[in-house]
Amino acid sequence: MTYAFAEVDKAKEEARIHGFRVLDFGVGDPTEPLYENAIRGLQSGAERHKSSGYPSYIGMKEFRNAASEWMHRRFNVSPDPDSQITSTAGSKEAVFHLPFAFVNPGDHVLMPSIGYPPYKAGAVFAGGIPRFYPLREENGFLPDLNDIESVLRERRTKLIWINYPNNPTTAIAGDSFFSDLISLSQKYGAIIASDEAYTEMYTNKKPHSILEYTDDWDNIIIFQSLSKRSNATGIRVGFAAGGKELIGYYRKFRTQIDSGVANAIQEAVISALNDEEHVQKMRDAYNKKRKFITSALEEVGIKYWADSTFYIWAESPSSSISFAKSMLTLDDSAKIGINITPGGMLALGNAPNADNYFRMALVPSLEETELASNLIRENLNQ
Ligand SMILES: Cc1ncc(COP(=O)(O)O)c(C=O)c1O
Repeated sequence: MTYAFAEVDKAKEEARIHGFRVLDFGVGDPTEPLYENAIRGLQSGAERHKSSGYPSYIGMKEFRNAASEWMHRRFNVSPDPDSQITSTAGSKEAVFHLPFAFVNPGDHVLMPSIGYPPYKAGAVFAGGIPRFYPLREENGFLPDLNDIESVLRERRTKLIWINYPNNPTTAIAGDSFFSDLISLSQKYGAIIASDEAYTEMYTNKKPHSILEYTDDWDNIIIFQSLSKRSNATGIRVGFAAGGKELIGYYRKFRTQIDSGVANAIQEAVISALNDEEHVQKMRDAYNKKRKFITSALEEVGIKYWADSTFYIWAESPSSSISFAKSMLTLDDSAKIGINITPGGMLALGNAPNADNYFRMALVPSLEETELASNLIRENLNQ
């Protein structure tokens, strides 16, 4: 897939060299500004903390309290700020580092075969063996628990990664999936690592946290992030929550990685955690963009999924790599094209179905999104 990646990148460069304007729906990085109060908090925080030294490894008490209170308001669960929460520098590093704390060389780490690359990279760098479960369209892009159990039965599996709302398929997991997975993981003594970075990005159905489905969090850890909720990718802040022993050990391990999240950043995002209005605005903005693209896809007869996250997952009319290349120069006369991510590029393991799909991240402006929807309508009509 590295080759395919390079191939699409090269085609993007070439399109630009040939004078094409490329509307970029590739990487999922929000272009909207950070929550206003957080910006003000950062400005005043720099002054307040001008000589405060290293921040706390686990996050300041006020930040952990705010995270716990938010979890309570949002999911009706209350992780103990003293023992069940730790701050992280966004979830990417936290996800990548988790296996270093818990995986011994040769342990299996189970993850979706299409998904977020740090699940695999973390497992490999920690000496674990990545194993994959498929995400099938006929199963609503949820893992089949039989696939999971067949790996668990084989040999020691330390971690099971799940990611709902899901990047890239936009699927949201339901109650029975979480409950059944918890029972299965307890039976085999595996840790569930639930990447919940997208719980606040949804259309109609409000996503859940796996922590809601049991009081016994001994083998569960979840990852939350301010990145998508508050357009905060640029300031790197999030938190992990879960069982006391898990969090305790993870905290200990993390003292060797860095020295915590800057105090000014933690304080600034407390106001973001306490505000839901800006989060609703974020959802409204993506809903508008989503509507533009999904109605165009519908008109040209392309099947899509768009239940959550800021992605659209859609069926590729041809092999996803060649389709992505053709999209870059979609309108030859107007010299304008669209950058999408071919599903094949998102495969972590053996995922023969990945190449049948493509992903669009709704990060360009509303105007650019409307333009892209018109381009799709006019040029992809089959
Ligand atoms: C599935 C998933 N998890 C986690 C992240 C990491 O987000 P951050 O490190 O900004 O919190 C992303 C970012 O795109 C993602 O797609």
